[in-house]
Amino acid sequence: MTDRRLEKLLPVERWPTRAEAAASRWFSKVTVGPHELNERTWVPAMVPWRATDDGFVTPGVLGWYERFARGEPGAIVVEATGIRDIPSGPLLRAGHDRYIEGLSRLVQTVKEASGGRTRLFIQLIDFLSIKRRPTREAFFGRFWKGPREVAEQLLTADEETIAKTLAPRDLEAYRFGLRERVTDTHLPHIAELPRVLPGLFAAAARRCLEAGFDGVELHFAHAYTMASFLSALNTRTDGWGGPRENRVKLPLEVYRAVRAELGTRLALGCRFLADEIIEGGNRPADAAWFGAEFARAGMDFLSLSRGGKFEDAKQPKVGHAAYPYTGLSGHECMPTTKVPAPGPWGRNLPAVAEVKRAVVAAGFSTPVVACGGIATFQQAEDVLSRGGADIVASARQSLADPDWTKKVREGRGGEVRRCLFTNYCEGLDQAHDVVTCQRWDRLKGLPDDSTVPRTSDGRRMIAP
Ligand SMILES: Cc1cc2nc3c(=O)[nH]c(=O)nc-3n(C[C@H](O)[C@H](O)[C@H](O)COP(=O)(O)O)c2cc1C
Ligand code: SF4
Repeated sequence: MTDRRLEKLLPVERWPTRAEAAASRWFSKVTVGPHELNERTWVPAMVPWRATDDGFVTPGVLGWYERFARGEPGAIVVEATGIRDIPSGPLLRAGHDRYIEGLSRLVQTVKEASGGRTRLFIQLIDFLSIKRRPTREAFFGRFWKGPREVAEQLLTADEETIAKTLAPRDLEAYRFGLRERVTDTHLPHIAELPRVLPGLFAAAARRCLEAGFDGVELHFAHAYTMASFLSALNTRTDGWGGPRENRVKLPLEVYRAVRAELGTRLALGCRFLADEIIEGGNRPADAAWFGAEFARAGMDFLSLSRGGKFEDAKQPKVGHAAYPYTGLSGHECMPTTKVPAPGPWGRNLPAVAEVKRAVVAAGFSTPVVACGGIATFQQAEDVLSRGGADIVASARQSLADPDWTKKVREGRGGEVRRCLFTNYCEGLDQAHDVVTCQRWDRLKGLPDDSTVPRTSDGRRMIAP
């Protein structure tokens, strides 16, 4: 479908005049911990795969955030940044003091490009190991620990026989690649997660403080370690799993350790799931309960996402790793125009409102950030005026047009280059390729493309 036909599927908008925008909630100030955001616009974390393979800030990373900063949103959250000092490909890292210098250049870049209007937060993540799907030969030849003679037979057996013979976890490792879980407490490094994670998060947060960030967002969402502790699928029997009270313990310990390191100089909050969208997983009622606990603990903001889990991910090709945005939960996390009615628009909002209500009922005014398919002024304004959230975040719309909220604020909404919700960007993310947007990455038609910074394959623009 052409871009023009896709654009016809988007909600029709009468964009506000400059005066209407100035009087709106979305463009009003809000306090987040020690900071006042100029407006309630927010660019949530998006991994653009621009760091070095060792996790350092590159000119590509600086260019990416500089471009968002020129749009002057209230806040930008820097992509999921690893707390450990372990190889993790071109993802940013904060697992050692040698990363501070690059991160502080990133802070300076954003401050300058936004004229100090934008607050810069950083998302801190821990994740467990996931292996690529093995070939049959590698799995039965090297990985599987069963009897050798059975392995020999399974090498040439049909899939049904393999399915009948292997234990469920082995079958999963064969079909999807080996994936560690927080419930694998027979593995010492998994058993000791509750002991080591608070310190690792706190040390990484201290580096972010030194680099000059305005805030830290603890990544308690999607398919990663901390979300797995919160999940109803966390059946650990060592006191860190089972009932909600146990599942929330580690996230709260991580929060307290980070708070002890940062004090109240930085805004400190978390991103977690309003609904896990997987069988047996957390539902909005669980999220509401966790939200109230996080607010009670003293978090400065709560940012809500949705889905994005490994449990329902599609089987990857041999040699590829499972990607947690390929099943139903993934489609709910980054919905496209192909999802059933009401389409990708604001699907998370009822669940986010449930969390907000629980926080208020517990007696707290902690700002709640809503996200997911919000790409017009009216949508954002409706959420805020209904009291369903305090801040409205847009990921893909901000990628399609990093100036979009500034254009709306200035009464130039008609000039917004709109996100088509087709997930070309997410496809690049899945391939761990440099993320760009189909609306601007092609070089065709530019008057002089020789001056345009390009991706390493030379085919695409690095920023709009
Ligand atoms: C390319 C890409 C990378 C993303 N990386 C992250 C990330 O690092 N951390 C995170 O919490 N969410 C990440 N997300 C999810 C977005 O923050 C957001 O929740 C999601 O895209 C839905 O919002 P939207 O409809 O406004 O795009 C990513 C999304 C995209 C498209
Ligand atoms: S590539 Fe991503 S940001 Fe660009 S239009 Fe498509 S969905 Fe929107």
